[in-house]
Formats: sequence, structure tokens, C-alpha cells
Amino acid sequence: MKKLFATLLGASLVSLLAACGGGGPAGPTIPDTPEGRAFDFRTGVMKSVQWKLTQIGNMAEGEIPADDAAFRKHTADLAVLAGMAPEGFIPNSAVEGSAALPAIWMNMSDFQAKARDFQNAAQALATAAQQSGFEGAKGMVGAVRQTCGGCHRPYRRRAAAAE
Ligand code: HEC
Repeated sequence: MKKLFATLLGASLVSLLAACGGGGPAGPTIPDTPEGRAFDFRTGVMKSVQWKLTQIGNMAEGEIPADDAAFRKHTADLAVLAGMAPEGFIPNSAVEGSAALPAIWMNMSDFQAKARDFQNAAQALATAAQQSGFEGAKGMVGAVRQTCGGCHRPYRRRAAAAE
């Protein structure tokens, strides 16, 4: 009886974990494996990158008011996120639902170079923001944006959704 209870508890924990790790209402369930967790992690990082770049870009384009302190924080955060991105690409982690192309793992040193381009551009922007504020740094946002496409073009499957 005790054993049955433990089994039932185990089973419900597994389904609970699966539900928590799921890819939202529409997406497939992310497998609870190192590869699945890496996919989950990098998706979170990329979404945060997108969020930060949107704040930075909106400010640079004058769509929201320029704010030196916020610009410094967002650019510093982006540089940190850029450093975290490669961790999420462990070998053969193109799990179901992922847009990562197998080419990543066949050209890892080139993929890493593209990640470094992003890190360098994001770090240069963050440093300029610290030193010269929004006005001195806003011209460098475009260079960061270019590194997104520089990696997405060869290494990310074109989704039905835009970008
Ligand atoms: C070194 C390569 C690389 C760089 C640089 C890069 N990305 Fe990505 N990004 C990827 C890959 C690969 C995926 C697909 C990951 C997957 O689905 O497993 C992705 C996915 C995304 C996603 C989709 C996340 C989701 O909801 O599934 C967004 C948004 C994104 N990237 C934004 C950006 C932005 C913005 C930049 C630049 C500031 C950027 N990325 C820079 C490789 C990169």
C-alpha cells in the first residue's frame, strides 16, 4: 500500500513537472532531459534578450523618452545575457519545438564566433552607455541588432512567425 502510494505520488510529480516545464498552451511539452532543459533555458535567455533590445531600441528611436539610468541598466543587462546565451546550446539539443538548426553543432566554432560578435557589440554598447550616457551610445544599437541576424540567418530555422 505504501509502495503504491509512493508510485502514485511519483507519477503525479512527474506529470506536474512536465506541466510546469511545458512550452505554453500551444507548444509541445519540453522533454525533462538535459537537452530539453537547455532548450528551455536558451528560449528564456533569447526572450529576455529580445525584451531588453526592444527597450533599448525604442529609446534609441525616440519612441519612449530617453532615460540615462534605464539605458545604462538595459545595456548592461543585455551584455550579461549575451554572455549566457552559448550555455544553452549543449550538443544535439535540437529537441522538438526548437528552431535551432543542426548546423550549429556541425560548425560550433563558427557559431561561437557569432555569439562572440554579439557579446562584443553588446559589451561595447554597455561600456559606451556607462561612459557617455544615452546620447553618446545610442548610435551603437544598430551594430548590436545586426549580430542577431548574423546568427539567426545561418543557425535558426525560419519560423512561420515573423523575424
Ligand atoms: C550565436 C547565435 C545567436 C545570436 C547572436 C542571437 N540569437 Fe536569438 N536565437 C538563436 C537560435 C539558434 C535560436 C533558436 C533557439 C531554439 O529554438 O532552440 C534563437 C531564438 C531567438 C528567439 C526566439 C525565442 C523563442 O521564443 O523561442 C528570439 C526572440 C531571439 N533569438 C532574439 C535574439 C535577438 C534580439 C538577438 C540579438 C540581440 C539574438 N537573438 C541573437 C541564435 C542566436
